Amino acid sequence: MRVGVIGTGYVGLVTATCLAEAGHHLTCVDNDPRKIQTLREGKIPIYEPGLEEMVARNVAAGRMRFSGSTAEAAAENEMLFIAVGTPGRDDGTADLSFIEAVSREIATNLPADGTRKIIVEKSTVPVSTGDRVKRSIQRGCRPGVQFEVVSNPEFLREGSAIHDFFRPDRIVVGVESEFAAAAMRRLYEPILEGRYFDPPGSRRPAWLVTDVASAELIKHASNSFLALKISYINSIAAICELTGGNIEHVAEGMGLDNRIGPQFLRAGLGYGGSCFPKDVAAFREIARAAGADFGILKEVMEVNAGQRKKFLRKIEEALWVVKGKTVAVLGLAFKPHTDDIREAPALDILAWLDKQGAHIRAYDPAAQENVRKLFPGVAYCASPYQAAEQADALLVVTEWDEFRYLDLKRLRETMKHGIIIDGRNIFDPPAVTEAGFEYFSMGRPPVRPAGMEQSSGSSVS
Ligand code: UDX
Repeated sequence: MRVGVIGTGYVGLVTATCLAEAGHHLTCVDNDPRKIQTLREGKIPIYEPGLEEMVARNVAAGRMRFSGSTAEAAAENEMLFIAVGTPGRDDGTADLSFIEAVSREIATNLPADGTRKIIVEKSTVPVSTGDRVKRSIQRGCRPGVQFEVVSNPEFLREGSAIHDFFRPDRIVVGVESEFAAAAMRRLYEPILEGRYFDPPGSRRPAWLVTDVASAELIKHASNSFLALKISYINSIAAICELTGGNIEHVAEGMGLDNRIGPQFLRAGLGYGGSCFPKDVAAFREIARAAGADFGILKEVMEVNAGQRKKFLRKIEEALWVVKGKTVAVLGLAFKPHTDDIREAPALDILAWLDKQGAHIRAYDPAAQENVRKLFPGVAYCASPYQAAEQADALLVVTEWDEFRYLDLKRLRETMKHGIIIDGRNIFDPPAVTEAGFEYFSMGRPPVRPAGMEQSSGSSVS
C-alpha cells in the first residue's frame, strides 16, 4: 500500500520504517527541513536499536523516502498517518496544535478524485480528537473529497520498538466503517499473520476493531493501568520497609497469579519517560473535563513522585552529610536501552546532589551526552569502575544489564567507602555485603557486611 506518515519523531519514524519493512511504500514527511536532510543522509536522529539499518535497507529497496511536503503526501497516498507531537502542558492537558495544523494541511490537499483516503491518528490523543480531526478536514477540504478518520494507537516501548511493532499482543483500530477496517487489516496483514514470531506463525496478534473513541481510550487506559501497577508495587515496597518484608519476594508471589502477571511489578525509582508521566496526567484531565473524578490517578502520580524523594532520603541516611562527598551515579536514561532522559529520575537526583554540594561522577552507556548539556559540572566517566573511583557512595539509578554483572570486589577496591544505594534492586543483598558493601535498596531491609552492626530495619519510609 502507499502510505504517508506525517511527523518523523519517534512514533512516526518507527511506524514508517516497520511498515516499509513489511512491504509497503512509505513517504515520511516532516516540516523541519533539517530533519528531512539528516534522514536523507542516512542519519537517524533518535536512538533505537536496529532502526538505522532498517531505514537504510528500505530506502535502498525504494520503499521509503523523505519529503518536506504534506501536500504531496496527501495527494499521492491512499493512507496518511498523523504522528506529530502532542506535548503536555503545565495543567496536564495535551497541546493539540500540531494535530490541528496537520489536519488543516491535509484538508486543503486531499484530491477529489473519487478515491477514499484513510487518515490514521497515531499520536496519543485525548478521546474525541478523531472527531475533531474529521470536522477540521471536512471544513477545509474541497467538495467531493472522500475520507475517513481511524484511530490506531501505538504501544511501542522505547528500546524495543521494532520488536514490539512486529510482535505486538494486539493491534487496535477504531473505525467508522467496514471499508476503513478492511484497509487497516490489509495494511497490518503481514504482522497479523504472525510471520515475525519465532517460529513464524507460532503466535498471532489479536486484531481488535472498535469505534474511534474506544480506540483512543484504550491507549490512555492501558498506559495509566501500567503506571498504576508500578505505583501499586512501590506502595507495597513502602509497607515492606516498615514491616521488614522483602518486595522482591512479595512481587514474585503476586506475579505468579496469572490474573496479576509478573510484568510491571518492579519496585524502584518509579516511572519516567515521554509517555507514562504525560499520559497519566492527560488522562486525569480528560476524565475531569468529562465530569469524572479519576482520583486513583492522582495517587499514582503522587506515589511516583514520592519514590524519588524516598531515594534521596536513603542517600542522606547512608551518607549523613552529603556536602563534599563524592557520589557515583550509575545510569542516567529513564530506563535501559535508550538515551532518552525525559522525566528521568536521574535528573532530579543530580539536581539534588548538586544542590547539596556533592561531587558527582556519572556513567551511562547511552545518555551521557544528553545529560551533559543540563549538568555540565558533573564528571562523566568512561565506565562504571571509573565513576566509582574514590567515591563515598554509589547510586544505581537505571538498571542497565552491564551494571548487574559488575565485579563487586573490584568496585569496592576502587571506592573510598563501600556504600551502594540501589534504586532498581539489581543486586543480590548477600553478594554485595560479601564484597564489603553496606547496601540500601528499595522495599528491602538495608544490609551490612559481616562485622558491621545490622540495622533492625530501615528507618526510611
Ligand atoms: C511505555 C509503554 O510501555 C508503551 O506501551 C507506550 O507505547 C509508551 O510508554 P516506555 O515509556 O518506552 O513505554 O517504557 P516502559 O518500558 O513501558 O517503562 C516505562 C517506565 O516505567 C520506565 O521509567 C521504567 O523504568 C518504569 N517501570 C517499568 C518500572 O518502574 N517498573 C516496572 O515494573 C516497569
